[in-house]
Amino acid sequence: MTIVHEPSATSEWWRTAVIYQVYPRSFADGDGDGVGDLPGITARLPHLAALGVDAVWLSPFYRSPQRDAGYDVADYRDIDPLFGTLADADAMIARAHDLGLKVVVDLVPNHTSSEHAWFQAALAAAPGSPERGRYLFRDGRGHGGVEPPNNWRSVFGGPAWTRVPDGQWYLHLFDSSQPDLDWTNPEVRAEIEDVLRFWLRRGVDGFRIDVAHGLVKEAGLPDWFGTVEMVSGTDPGAPEDGQSPAFGSGPMFDQDGVHEIYRSWRAVLDEFDAGGERRSRALVAEAWVEPLSRLARYVRDDEMQQAFNFSFLTTLWDAAAYRRTITESYAALDAVGAPATWVLSNHDVVRHPSRLGLAVPGSRPNGIFATDPQPDEELGLRRARAATLFMLALPGSAYVYQGEELGLPEHTSLPDDVREDPSYFRTLHEEAGRDGCRVPLPWVAGAPGLGFSPTGRTWLPQPASWAAYAADAQAGVAGSTLELYRAALALRRSLALGAGGLAWLDGFPDDVVAFRTAAAGETGAVVLANLGTTPVALPDGATVLLASADLPGDGTLPADVTVWLEA
Ligand code: NOJ
Repeated sequence: MTIVHEPSATSEWWRTAVIYQVYPRSFADGDGDGVGDLPGITARLPHLAALGVDAVWLSPFYRSPQRDAGYDVADYRDIDPLFGTLADADAMIARAHDLGLKVVVDLVPNHTSSEHAWFQAALAAAPGSPERGRYLFRDGRGHGGVEPPNNWRSVFGGPAWTRVPDGQWYLHLFDSSQPDLDWTNPEVRAEIEDVLRFWLRRGVDGFRIDVAHGLVKEAGLPDWFGTVEMVSGTDPGAPEDGQSPAFGSGPMFDQDGVHEIYRSWRAVLDEFDAGGERRSRALVAEAWVEPLSRLARYVRDDEMQQAFNFSFLTTLWDAAAYRRTITESYAALDAVGAPATWVLSNHDVVRHPSRLGLAVPGSRPNGIFATDPQPDEELGLRRARAATLFMLALPGSAYVYQGEELGLPEHTSLPDDVREDPSYFRTLHEEAGRDGCRVPLPWVAGAPGLGFSPTGRTWLPQPASWAAYAADAQAGVAGSTLELYRAALALRRSLALGAGGLAWLDGFPDDVVAFRTAAAGETGAVVLANLGTTPVALPDGATVLLASADLPGDGTLPADVTVWLEA
């Protein structure tokens, strides 16, 4: 037995929470226009309470031209009419709190929309003006400044600079409709702190910070000859050790200066926590940063509370690789007293049942075209259920992306003319992009649009096969993915697994991830995940609490199955 993590001694909610990601345009549509909205979300919150999660995180619902599905914010203090009104947001927050759910909202501080009043003012003003000084406007290189100021590429493909009519260029790490703010400008800092206060006053419990590693750029904006891999980028293949290559380096990412910003935001949150439960509000970093020791810097005691563990998400289907990622995660995060987090899917990556059904299981293409080799749907779901079951047993906090509780696969046959992801366009159609993981959820098998909308309209078409995945087709059905998630979340809660310690167990084949987890004073559970190709023997006398697939009953654990055993 090798102990890699001690039980948690503190009890703030974000140390152990299971947080469900709602992608507002695709969760539930209240008004029938085919795009999900806040009233639709509010009406479906009981589904999340019944599922057994602790919190919801909502991707952006702010006023936006929707060039990057809302990650292009035109007004941080208003709701986009597509999604409703501020009163609808208040009602959603209140309903969630009534149901015992915390609410985390998305904050997009690296860039605004090009339709934000600040950027419009910058375009109207002269080079060198204070209006331009809120963004990263620069003169170009070469004769007449016709070349961009440096060689940076957008994460979505293409150059990271766009020229304006007077000849200057502005930086956009993402789409040209998403100009980067200049975080050395005190006005920018003051504005976003005020935005934090605006939403804290409305009662939110935390913020997920978009591109948290990108706000500060290296002084002088030097050329960069590496990749800008983050949310998109063709998977380079299968490294032999089961680990993807490191991401998040270069002069545009993970600069030391970002941390001072997070310390100041933390002070803003603490203003609201004074007198209440200590640190009841949380900041979560979306920081694609490796190694994990660099990621841990975002969650030091006076900075954020959590950071997404993308090293876990990008680990290939290999037991040794998972053991290594998990061990390194606890080592790095325990060193700063922060909870580990675990995530397998979100709105930026191919859904994990499909990733795990690829020839290189767990690899990460930026979307899948109908003409690409297709994932094995049955094998992928079997592995996805096994992966989820060991993820939900890991001490710390876990993220569940909407629809994964239904076992939804990626939509891999979307017609190209319905695609909206800017990365599809900016890679000149070389990469399918992220639309396939953003398809409206199936709620009711027999209803038009699978019950997503009262009119049956859906902003992206749903695959015909999704009727079988609809929530109503799985509720109460033994062995369904929905019931597996419900059972796992209930047991995780009753056994206090989120607050557990973790020890690797000896005596199992290398292909088995085997650990015991138990909170202080609890018995906990033994977890075995067989990532190999042949069945392995269960320990003598083992009592199975939960299994990700039917067990043969002969005392063995089949390939691609996880079990929780009585400890
Ligand atoms: C990360 C978000 O998750 C992604 O959806 C978005 O496109 C980029 N940041 C840019 O905001």
